[in-house]
Amino acid sequence: MAILVTGGLGYIGSHTVVELLNNGFDVVIVDDLSNSEKFILKNIEEVAGKKPVFYPFDLKRRELLTQVFDAHQIDGCINFAASKAVGESQVKPIDYYENNLFTLINILQEFKERGISNFIFSSSCTVYGQAEKMPIDENTPLKMPESVYGKTKQMGEEILIDFAKAYNRKISLLRYFNPIGAHPSGKLGELPLGIPNNLIPYVTQTAAGIREKLSIWGDDYDTEDGTAVRDYIYVVDLAKAHVSALKNLLHSNEETVIDIFNLGTGKGSSVLEVVKAFETANDVKVPYQICARREGDITIAYANADKAEKELHWKSETSLEESLRTVWKWQQYLDSRAV
Ligand code: UD1
Repeated sequence: MAILVTGGLGYIGSHTVVELLNNGFDVVIVDDLSNSEKFILKNIEEVAGKKPVFYPFDLKRRELLTQVFDAHQIDGCINFAASKAVGESQVKPIDYYENNLFTLINILQEFKERGISNFIFSSSCTVYGQAEKMPIDENTPLKMPESVYGKTKQMGEEILIDFAKAYNRKISLLRYFNPIGAHPSGKLGELPLGIPNNLIPYVTQTAAGIREKLSIWGDDYDTEDGTAVRDYIYVVDLAKAHVSALKNLLHSNEETVIDIFNLGTGKGSSVLEVVKAFETANDVKVPYQICARREGDITIAYANADKAEKELHWKSETSLEESLRTVWKWQQYLDSRAV
């Protein structure tokens, strides 16, 4: 049984490929290397002890995608291929809609024409905006996100729901909270392009001396220590949730399935708590300064992930400290490659 993993050399994609291989699935990766590197493929093989099939091309190339479906018996897809920089999405909206939605439609055309079911979509807690009640469960009302990136996630969800309903297919929408961490081997992790936007890569690069100081965006939020609160979910735990979600679709006797799951730990941590936890876990210092709030940031978001626990028999297992140890190991691996 072969699963198409788009963006399979990316951050969450590469960890999920390892878990799929560990669970006996054959994996076909399509990745255009726009935000990933070829050595990740070798590292996936080293970590999993098995080789996925790899095609380096852009999913906008429908004719190449058709050839992949002709060459392999594809039984499902986990779609990670997408652009994800919030700031960039505001200045390049059409590129974001094209990259994130046109490519999705190309895959769904193949699914539609070939009668394939089982589609898992990387969505985000950004679809809830600033929710009124914590923790956030799947019934929390959605708000159209302000960022184009966020809109592509919400629109992607809608496209998939219509696809499932019209053609009687099975889909799973996975709403990630804040994925962090690296593989325990230290060989897979996040590869930020240029100056990182997200908190954890900025923290590790500051600890490594690549950046001078972390800027903490605001300490005047209505939270315990004034810094914003998020739900940081370990990437390997998150990868395992994809395998559970896939099995759930494959084993379902229903013809049409529309699954929606929040994937988080259920616990909120403030930016300052994360910085302290990183320092304690790794015995290193992270110089920081408090700055003004970042535009578009919300105050607090953490998940109620009970539905995933009940229906997928999945829950987050790894502590914040443990996952922060893995990112430091990954940073050191990257530093050793750079010399
Ligand atoms: C961001 C996106 C979200 C997307 C996710 C993907 C925004 C508004 N949201 O989430 O839509 O799904 O990335 O990973 O961009 N922080 C600092 N200093 C830094 C970086 C971050 O203080 O240098 C703070 C932020 O203000 C925030 C927290 O750390 O409170 C987490 O930030 P980040 O890692 O960027 O994730 P989100 O903003 O939650």
